Amino acid sequence: MAKPRMKTTEQTEVSEAQIAVHWKEEAYYQPSEKFKAQANMRDPHVFDRFGLDKFPDCFREYADMLTWFEPYHTVLDTSDAPFWKWFAGGKINASYNCVDRQLATYANKAAFIFVPEPEAERDVVMTYQELYDRVNEVAAMLRDLGVKAGDRVTFHMPMVPQLPITMLACARLGIIHSQVFGGFSGQACGSRIHDSGSRVLVTMDSYWRNGALVDHKANADIAVRAAKELGQDVDKVLVWQRYPGKYSAKTPMVPGRDVFVNDLLKDYQGKKVEPVALPSEAPLFLMYSSGTTGKPKGAQHGIAGYLSYVTATSKWILDIHPEDIYWCMADIGWITGHSYIVYGPLANAATSVLYEGVPTFPDAGRPWRIAERLGVNIFHTAPTAIRMLRKLGPQEPRKYKYHFKSMTTVGEPIEPEAWRWYYDEVGKREAVITDTWWMTETGGFLGTTVPAIHAMKPGSCGPAAPGIHPVIYDETGAEISKGSGKAGNMCIRNPWPGIMQTIWGDHDRYVKTYYGKYNKHPRSKDWRDWPFLCGDGAVQAADGYYRILGRIDDVINVAGHRLGTKEIESACLTVPEIAEAAVVPVQDELKGRVPEVYVALKPGVPPSQAVIDRVVKANEEVIGKIARPKHVYIVPDMPKTRSGKIMRRVLAAISNRRDVGDVTTLANPDVVEQIRAMVQGNDTQTTQEALPEDIAKYGQVE
Ligand code: WTA
Repeated sequence: MAKPRMKTTEQTEVSEAQIAVHWKEEAYYQPSEKFKAQANMRDPHVFDRFGLDKFPDCFREYADMLTWFEPYHTVLDTSDAPFWKWFAGGKINASYNCVDRQLATYANKAAFIFVPEPEAERDVVMTYQELYDRVNEVAAMLRDLGVKAGDRVTFHMPMVPQLPITMLACARLGIIHSQVFGGFSGQACGSRIHDSGSRVLVTMDSYWRNGALVDHKANADIAVRAAKELGQDVDKVLVWQRYPGKYSAKTPMVPGRDVFVNDLLKDYQGKKVEPVALPSEAPLFLMYSSGTTGKPKGAQHGIAGYLSYVTATSKWILDIHPEDIYWCMADIGWITGHSYIVYGPLANAATSVLYEGVPTFPDAGRPWRIAERLGVNIFHTAPTAIRMLRKLGPQEPRKYKYHFKSMTTVGEPIEPEAWRWYYDEVGKREAVITDTWWMTETGGFLGTTVPAIHAMKPGSCGPAAPGIHPVIYDETGAEISKGSGKAGNMCIRNPWPGIMQTIWGDHDRYVKTYYGKYNKHPRSKDWRDWPFLCGDGAVQAADGYYRILGRIDDVINVAGHRLGTKEIESACLTVPEIAEAAVVPVQDELKGRVPEVYVALKPGVPPSQAVIDRVVKANEEVIGKIARPKHVYIVPDMPKTRSGKIMRRVLAAISNRRDVGDVTTLANPDVVEQIRAMVQGNDTQTTQEALPEDIAKYGQVE
């Protein structure tokens, strides 16, 4: 125990020095008077109302934004800490709050505007009334298929309106949905089906991506097979058709198992299903995410806490009013889409744009054409998309006459330079920007500005959302004070309604991962003893703004998508020739980080391009195309410590063209130079620039 601790202290000091050198304070940008005058939240006293001394009662204000079937009696029940029960005793339904209750005022207003990727295809406008009708029909169908409250149903759906319709149909009955990102492979979907114990898979035959109609049904067959191998049977595969009445995939339907939803629904036209009054803490959905081990973890979110949190933050931070046209370009397959395309916006009676395809298809003007045509005035995307659009069409936004009042960035740290392009060109210096930092586990925003109250500072997410009280701890658990220039582990002192309830089926992992490091009294029922470890490193400037430095665990954030190192390494090891694999993050101009893979072959296997191709293919099959390594290097041996541990830090330095430092203590120091020459070539030039924190720390945290 003592040794790793020493190592981590050392590494914190390195990072402090780096930050001291590289920290450059940015200038503030003020929100316009015009924005402030119309903003939903402009009361600076909100932070007094949500002070820690008012916790947890302050969050009644969030619960009040929802419609309840039965009132709750306890704001926060901590009796089973750290398994928090928000708004205990209440009865509620998320589908009712997002759909039914909007009918009185907004029945004929668009809930979703679906924009297909092919530009010649027309938008589909779905009013709240139509959404209500469709959700009821699908709920009736699910009920008759025998799916009940508490059962899990896995989705592997693209970005089409049928996805939120099916989510809301599940929510209506208390069925727990688990949407797997459509870009994940069939195998990845299968392992999530198994973990959640789903007997039903909902998918779509095909969808458009980058100009091609993807045959998606093939993945369902792989998923069902993979789940079965792990011990989970799937009885029904419900297949939506991208073009109703026409099957756009080549894979045959499996009789008895596969059913076209469009056909089934013919019997349910006009059918209505009462929304079930569910306990506040009943689970709403699972969202799988990557962590330190190869096993995916299902973050479980409960109805009332989650829904109140995303409703309030959509209103106050995104500043959604019912008359706004809001477009979040994320995928519903990630938490951002669940919280800020579906649940939060609908609960606020928003009109939400749903775009099927790639932002740069057919060219970098596409998003701005959509914005102009639909009158989008709130825009939400990730740094990767911003970098890409900037690279391919820096002046494109100028050609279109849209006006954003507010914009959001999420998913990765954004470089001040990219931020300024977003502000100047995309936002035309009119729109406020919220840089929202949070994660799958937290349900909604943690670090952000409240746009009408705080100034913006490029590269910093800002202070924190109302009622969120962050603290940065060092490795020993001592608080790092603001303005000290030191980095540490970002934690939240208090639970909040959006926080996950547990990891599906693995309560111990939940406690260990998020509280193990800083909880000192494991039996305590007092929330003060349970700071939540977010998993990111951060620095707090003297003005209270946080700058997020990236993951402190073995998670690589590729284009805003979390990928676990162990997942990638296990995928590589499915190739029979591979003896050992190590993955490292590499800085990338567009995607932020990309994985590079080092493999050592089994004795007697000669290195070949064929092996490299197999490793790439294995990653695409086991995880998905987003896990495609930038390079695969076949090395004679891995650099190792004397105890046989692979030194990923050394490989990360080589991949990122940095000096490897002192390697004399390794068991096989000579191999380092061989690998370096292979990757960097004969030219030994390395850059002196310090590595970003997440890469500098990579592979060092035990
Ligand atoms: C990173 C996405 C810097 C962070 C909502 C976090 C960010 C991980 C930001 C969670 C931001 C998210 N600035 N980094 N504004 N937002 N991150 O679970 O490292 O897919 O831990 O949730 O993304 O990714 P996840």
